[in-house]
Amino acid sequence: MSKIHNTRIVGKVLLEFDHLESTNAYARALLQQSPLEEGTVVLARDQSKGRGQLGTTWDSEPGKNLTLSIVLNPHFLAISDQFRLNKIVALSVREAIMEYIPDEVKIKWPNDILINEKKVAGILIQNILKGSTVHTVIAGIGLNVNQQDFGPSLLTATSLSQLLGNTLDLDEVLQTLLEKLDRYYELLELYPTRIDDVYHEHLYLRGIESMFFTPDSSRFIGTIRTVDAQGRLEVIVKNELKYFTLKEIKFA
Ligand code: BTN
Repeated sequence: MSKIHNTRIVGKVLLEFDHLESTNAYARALLQQSPLEEGTVVLARDQSKGRGQLGTTWDSEPGKNLTLSIVLNPHFLAISDQFRLNKIVALSVREAIMEYIPDEVKIKWPNDILINEKKVAGILIQNILKGSTVHTVIAGIGLNVNQQDFGPSLLTATSLSQLLGNTLDLDEVLQTLLEKLDRYYELLELYPTRIDDVYHEHLYLRGIESMFFTPDSSRFIGTIRTVDAQGRLEVIVKNELKYFTLKEIKFA
């Protein structure tokens, strides 16, 4: 892929590699040397040390999927609102998928993308803060496009091609994804509060009484209400509203 079309910011610079340890780590290393043009995309066909949330790894079969990181400078975004950036990345991935897949696409807090309860994409956002604003964001996306075999993750992972029964053009999916992100990034600056409603509308298990775990494995029943601006999950537990960070709650 040589050029991304129809975007204002996202993907105007596209750095493509056959192999990197991690696109997020590479983007961070580049940023430590010198600033990058806003919207720069770092893409690798193969990652040997792909990173996931909470110190997990992200495995992706070489050449089959999209693994990329986008560098953004949302200086207009207050630190107290920083989770909105996660929201627009999740919504962009969701809408890009919807161009290909007729099934319902859900966002599992904080930002896993699910189709029929299986994960089709993961997002890792790393924020670099300065003062009271978000200075630079590295938004890493792993989207399973053409992988067929997920080994032991068979029951929990899926790809677009597994669902569709045919292979997709990776460059085309990339173009679709970056266009969506470019539009949502504009929306984030112009009409930030609109994003919350759309995100909540597609939030997995929202409004459905469900079982959760605490880190010490005790169980409780609650109903997800929303996700606040800082990214905490708001859950109604025994008629009381409780707030959980990523480390404080697990889905059953
Ligand atoms: C998760 O679901 O745990 C997040 C997975 C994020 C994976 C992507 S792949 C591209 C980018 N580079 C990385 O090392 N991780 C992210």
